Amino acid sequence: MHTIFIDALGGKTKINREIYGHFSEHLGRCIYDGLFVGKDSDIPNIDGVRKDAIEALRAIKIPVLRWPGGCFAEEYHWRDGIGPVENRPVTVNNYWGKVPESNHFGTHEFFNLCELLGAQPYLAANLSGGTVREMQDWVEYITFDGHSTLSDLRRKNGRKKPWALPFIGIGNENWGGGGNMRPEYYADEYRKYQTFCKDYGDNRLKKIACGPSDDDYDWTEKLVKSIRRSKPFGISMHHYCAPTRNWDNKGSATAFSDDEYYSTIAHAIFMDELIQKHGAIIRRYDADIALIVDEWGVWCDTEPGTNPDFLYQQNSMRDAIVAAVTLNIFNNHADIVKMANLAQTVNVLQSVLLTDGKNMLKTPTYHVFDLFKAHQDSTLLPSHVAAPAKDDIPLISCSASLTKNGKFVLTLCNASLTEAMPLRCILDSADVSAIAEARVLTAPKEACNTFEVPDAVHPVSFDGCVLKDGCLSCTLPPVSVAEIVLK
Ligand code: AHR
Repeated sequence: MHTIFIDALGGKTKINREIYGHFSEHLGRCIYDGLFVGKDSDIPNIDGVRKDAIEALRAIKIPVLRWPGGCFAEEYHWRDGIGPVENRPVTVNNYWGKVPESNHFGTHEFFNLCELLGAQPYLAANLSGGTVREMQDWVEYITFDGHSTLSDLRRKNGRKKPWALPFIGIGNENWGGGGNMRPEYYADEYRKYQTFCKDYGDNRLKKIACGPSDDDYDWTEKLVKSIRRSKPFGISMHHYCAPTRNWDNKGSATAFSDDEYYSTIAHAIFMDELIQKHGAIIRRYDADIALIVDEWGVWCDTEPGTNPDFLYQQNSMRDAIVAAVTLNIFNNHADIVKMANLAQTVNVLQSVLLTDGKNMLKTPTYHVFDLFKAHQDSTLLPSHVAAPAKDDIPLISCSASLTKNGKFVLTLCNASLTEAMPLRCILDSADVSAIAEARVLTAPKEACNTFEVPDAVHPVSFDGCVLKDGCLSCTLPPVSVAEIVLK
């Protein structure tokens, strides 16, 4: 029997719902096909957005959506994507396959999508391939309520009232595809660009600077030191897990050895160290700047037979374990991680949905977001896990929170391929009398949902949980993710 201690009275940090955010880029079949099929499609849609995707994403309470990239953002010119669709230019998607970009999905379509989903918009604005003026004008076009040529143009294009724009990223991966900048140079650019992103009316922009990739602590140090006086809301960080850790041969999404499985989980758990170390640097300079993990997930070799530039990959129980471990890490660092965005929503990398023409399926990762959604805007409860590790990989991960209506939510994950884990969770001083809900997602490591069997992997009732004298006992099967709600 292994033990988890939960300090039920020790909660003081809110788990921002934005930690459960998503990211959709003009890449492969994420936007086109995945989310947007156009009004004339015979796939059921609302204003061109797939109805099945709206329903599925609303069900997991998608809180925020980042768009239009990614790398694509640094070549995106927003004026290409407004006005009558037949007049919009066809441009080249240089980053992702050099395929034609119709620009049929642009600013109005994105904000409409967010409204349909009930998600907040997070724009990644073009710093290296655009101009200060272009970024400034985009903010004015979107958020200005008064009379100006740009706000009148927005009205002419069909949107009378301004939209709320809570989050704006000033550039993307400017250490790489976004201009190959040095941190000192980017910091100066950030300071300049952000100066011209104005708040109009009630809109308050939360500005996010391009932070590091993985363990580039030098970037964080130099950036934060230079930009802290301009009071950014946050700095971003990107961390992807490649199963083999060899970016030229990342490994298959569906056929992998036990070693590759554990190496993927270890790579995911590295997120914890990254947050601690980048967080410590940020806190040395400023008590308020957040860490925004606006790209994360498993990055495998693309599915054989698909366009290699489209980054389409299947999604297995391994992805579900990565998602659960990572979301538990984010929850447990909710004091500094204020938003995170899984890459990417549909048909690209670690997706929550896959589509094939009229068909859509929910991946194992989708179900993890479903199991974790009760944490959104709840209060984090400190927890401590005393359970075994395999080669330094902790096999049990956990986070706990107290919801606004007084329920305790526990999300547990057993990454072991072989061992069922008997657990007792001690809720210190908690006033709990019953198990309100218990669900578990479990299947062999390579199990996937396919278009032939779309619901092979799905959560079921987690039987055998017992609550007695403030102590919850259960046995977590191998390769499993569970949600237990106590009241
Ligand atoms: O998510 C795919 C790509 O990964 C994004 O475009 C880029 O920001 C990152 O390198």
